[in-house]
Amino acid sequence: MKKNSMTMIDNRTGKSYEYSILEATRGPSVVDVRSFFKDTGMFTYDPGFTSTAACDSEMTFIDGGKGELRYYGIEIEELATNHSYLDVCFLLSTGRFPTQEESINYDLEIRHRSFIHSGLKNLIESFPNSAHPMAILASAVSALSSFYFEHLELKSEEDYMEMKRRIIAKMPTLAAFSYRHSLGIPLICPDIERSFTENFLYMMRAYPGGKMHIGVDGEEKISSVEIEALDTIFTLHADHEQNASTTTVRGVASTGAHPYVAISAGISALWGRAHGGANESVIAQLEMIGDVKNVPAFIKRAKDPEDDFRLMGFGHRVYKNFDPRARVLKKLQDKLSDALELDSELIMIAREIEKIALSDPYFIERNLYPNIDFYSGTILYALGIPKSMFTVIFVIGRTVGWINQWVEFKKDESSKIARPRQRYLGK
Ligand code: ACO
Repeated sequence: MKKNSMTMIDNRTGKSYEYSILEATRGPSVVDVRSFFKDTGMFTYDPGFTSTAACDSEMTFIDGGKGELRYYGIEIEELATNHSYLDVCFLLSTGRFPTQEESINYDLEIRHRSFIHSGLKNLIESFPNSAHPMAILASAVSALSSFYFEHLELKSEEDYMEMKRRIIAKMPTLAAFSYRHSLGIPLICPDIERSFTENFLYMMRAYPGGKMHIGVDGEEKISSVEIEALDTIFTLHADHEQNASTTTVRGVASTGAHPYVAISAGISALWGRAHGGANESVIAQLEMIGDVKNVPAFIKRAKDPEDDFRLMGFGHRVYKNFDPRARVLKKLQDKLSDALELDSELIMIAREIEKIALSDPYFIERNLYPNIDFYSGTILYALGIPKSMFTVIFVIGRTVGWINQWVEFKKDESSKIARPRQRYLGK
């Protein structure tokens, strides 16, 4: 019997089976059950993959018990506080931080790649104005695959980098176009003079023709406070291990489909309110609650097993402690309190929910803490960003994670087509 192994006994027959335990560099080891079906004629059963590791990865590490998140070993708080989103994109794309020169060049290349083909513009403009920006964005990203068909045949490291830079650079443009079209206002092209995050705010807010609103102080109305807050939000969303949308991206990658089609599938998976759609639902729920005095009644509903009402922005499959991203955003929210006028009624309701839930035995016993969406929703709201764009902003941040997970899948020789089995209960 091997030392690093686990023995399973089928108590019906007395037969025993031995499976290797593979060590991880951080976090739980895994039991290698790849030969389980061949050995036993049975499947392992794990709906929702609560105990299943589906791949090896070097990018992102989460310790849900401690509330820890790292990209390439570096803690999220350090990344969000001391590094720009684009430097984090470089880190997730290469495994290291850029030198100063690389950082400047990467920024320039991203700016130059931010423009999109006019055919895509026409496609976006053909959607009804009533379409949700997420629906337009998922379609536009899928259509992007037809403009860069060569990305199906990636050969060199530079091919991979080019494919990544393109999608990272174009996502804010497609996102802003999707938003402006849903409002029925003319689309604004990227401004090469502006940084990644500023450019996105510019494309969302500029008047037709590209002029920005000038305040009484003679300054343009995109403040450095807003740019910094949004850049932090992008970094906090950049990657999150094998969540539902990333698993979708890897699943599509496993069939050999185009990388941008896989990202489009990830966008669709993210949209659901149990996942990235929660940030939009947080604000919708705060609006529904309407007044601080109504909070206790809604907390009561959230605890009632007969009622399917859930507190949006609370709970997480992996974090059974404070979501470390939420911790960063809570600090940011406090820091920006004055600058962003966070004392609106909705923010007051959010603070009351947080106060009551964090001291209520129902939430304490189930380890239900506020997650990233609880705070990102309220900060984006304070930034004056409409709630239909909240999940779109999540997409912009997560694009780098999805595309690098796609690459990791492609380069891993043990990767296989994703094809789970089932327990059949029909006739
Ligand atoms: N409000 C009230 N009760 C909750 C909540 C909530 N937000 N979340 C979980 N619970 C309760 C469940 O009713 C269950 O109670 P029970 O043991 O008495 O039956 C218990 O906590 C465990 O919940 P599960 O649904 O089994 O946990 P799971 O890990 O499957 O779900 C999820 C995690 C989907 C995030 C869930 O907590 C939820 O729906 N939260 C609200 C939506 C949300 O904020 N999603 C964003 C997640 S973060 C992200 O994707 C970026």
